[in-house]
Amino acid sequence: MNNKITIAIDGFSSTGKSTVAKQLAKELEYIYVDTGAMYRAVTLFALRNSLISETSFDREGLIAKLPEVDLNFFYDNTLGFAAIYLNEENVEEEIRRMEVSGYVSQVAAVSEVREKLVAEQQQMGKEKGIVMDGRDIGTVVFPDAELKIFMNASAEERAERRFKEMQQKGQAVSFEEVLKNVQDRDHQDTTREDSPLILAEDAIEIDNSYLTPEDQFRIVLELAEEKIAEQKVI
Ligand code: DC
Repeated sequence: MNNKITIAIDGFSSTGKSTVAKQLAKELEYIYVDTGAMYRAVTLFALRNSLISETSFDREGLIAKLPEVDLNFFYDNTLGFAAIYLNEENVEEEIRRMEVSGYVSQVAAVSEVREKLVAEQQQMGKEKGIVMDGRDIGTVVFPDAELKIFMNASAEERAERRFKEMQQKGQAVSFEEVLKNVQDRDHQDTTREDSPLILAEDAIEIDNSYLTPEDQFRIVLELAEEKIAEQKVI
């Protein structure tokens, strides 16, 4: 009997959603999908095609070109998770750059972009056995997910984490810049009209400002195991 479940992990940026989602997928032998990477890849496409800049955003132009955006995930042994490919090019690293982070909320607010990506995400989760992280997974993509987690932490703590990560990668940014980007994205993600970031009614909220990554993983794994056990009984 297939007792696999669907696990939705939503929350603010840099709350460590992807870390816990990856660990969970590995432990349960589930598929892991980082939906933020998909919005970032579309943003990279928009930047490369000069559809978005500091002064303008050609929404209609992007919508018209959406059929040319082909996204895929392929497992990368070195990374230990699936990297994202934009039109057959591995863009996993490039989409994490500050430039993409600065524009991604505007791109993610376009309904046509969301429609395309949500349909692809639902297709990936058809067979269950999936851990997906994002902003609207428990509310829009998989409203029937058996387990919904909503991750939170203070903006300062999240900026500090991302700043360290970027420093390690040798990216030249200041803490203030990173904090501002986190705060701006929080604002845009929670106030956009289409699928804003909100806590699903049946989601379990975890504030990890003061949790170690090990404690956080233990809590989430226990919740997942409980849900999987419930499936077996049904
Ligand atoms: O998780 P992240 O920081 O890589 O996400 C990048 C952006 O994409 C973020 O600003 C919000 C948007 N996003 C979204 O709107 N819906 C999702 N399911 C995932 C991400």
